[in-house]
Amino acid sequence: MKFIDLFAGIGGFRQGFEKIGFECIFSCEINSKCREVYADNFGEVPFVDISKINPVDLADFDVLVAGFPCQPFSICGKKLGFEDTRGTLFFDICKIIKIKQPQVVVLENVKHLIHHDKGNTLKVIIASLEDLGYSVNYKMLNAKDFGIAQHRERIFIIATKGKEFNFSRLKTKFTPKLREFLDETGDFEILDKSEYTLIEYPRKQDSGLLFVGYRNKGTWKTGVRPNTEHLSRVHRQPNRIYSVDGVHPTIPSQETSGRFFIYIPDRDLVRKLTLKECYRLMGFPEDFKSYPNVGESYKQIGNSVCVPVVEVIAKEILSQNLLSDKMTELQSDRLREYLSFMLH
Ligand SMILES: C[S@@+](CC[C@H](N)C(=O)[O-])C[C@H]1O[C@@H](n2cnc3c(N)ncnc32)[C@H](O)[C@@H]1O
Repeated sequence: MKFIDLFAGIGGFRQGFEKIGFECIFSCEINSKCREVYADNFGEVPFVDISKINPVDLADFDVLVAGFPCQPFSICGKKLGFEDTRGTLFFDICKIIKIKQPQVVVLENVKHLIHHDKGNTLKVIIASLEDLGYSVNYKMLNAKDFGIAQHRERIFIIATKGKEFNFSRLKTKFTPKLREFLDETGDFEILDKSEYTLIEYPRKQDSGLLFVGYRNKGTWKTGVRPNTEHLSRVHRQPNRIYSVDGVHPTIPSQETSGRFFIYIPDRDLVRKLTLKECYRLMGFPEDFKSYPNVGESYKQIGNSVCVPVVEVIAKEILSQNLLSDKMTELQSDRLREYLSFMLH
């Protein structure tokens, strides 16, 4: 049960897969600060640039995982195959798949991928993987369905040899409340009452978010009817305050000052979520060593993948019996094809 961790970031995928017993045999990450954190936690410095990997040099593995950055494809060819993705990071993933033919490929991306370039990007990704001999299935998964109090939707694309990955068999859990992820004591940044406004009739949204107010900073009220503030644009995302009796909104990678404010009704106070709590809301272990610079750490955790979601996927790959330790005919054919190409 071996896997490779591409676009590894700080190793969210690795956390999840290792928990289930998979062994990571190769990792790759271009950002030096992420590589530092990765090395600190896993004792291995990732390879730098995916485009510089020669797939033939990689040892064999069963699963390829990648949370790759989404780039536009220019679809110049007609057949919607992986050759159409040349020049993109996705093409670099495909090159490795083509040569190594792992049993399973797990790709993760932002929700927006579904609508990216009017759905074309996703279409090309699927067609490319099919082109390489895989059955492909995908689903939008939300961290709040996997025991984490965060509304975080991400698309997971899973390519397999033979039968498709069955997403309906993923074990989901009841959504917990944000308060279950918080520290009772600590050096909290508490907001003064003059710095925020609570709305009168908060209502839990379908997403599980419980919007209760906003920071007064940078808001304007002229022309806004009382009690409709939460419906209007008087406050930008970093100014919104959510109750700990709901879930937390998506932790984004752009928010380097960690402006995530939460309301604790029983204490009637608003405080900032701590960095430690952010890591917990992504399912990282308590002893995870983050980057020394706080802003950079917020960025890294916001870019990461939610560990329990990945863990459930890794478990299901095994239960659905999607790994076979024998090299398939297609694998050996592809390898032979490639080697003869390289030798001539
Ligand atoms: C969305 S993040 C993935 C984060 C990761 N799943 C985690 O758990 O932390 C995408 C990562 O791809 C990396 N990346 C971008 N271009 C790359 C390249 N050419 N080679 C290797 N990594 C690259 C970025 O630095 C970034 O950390």
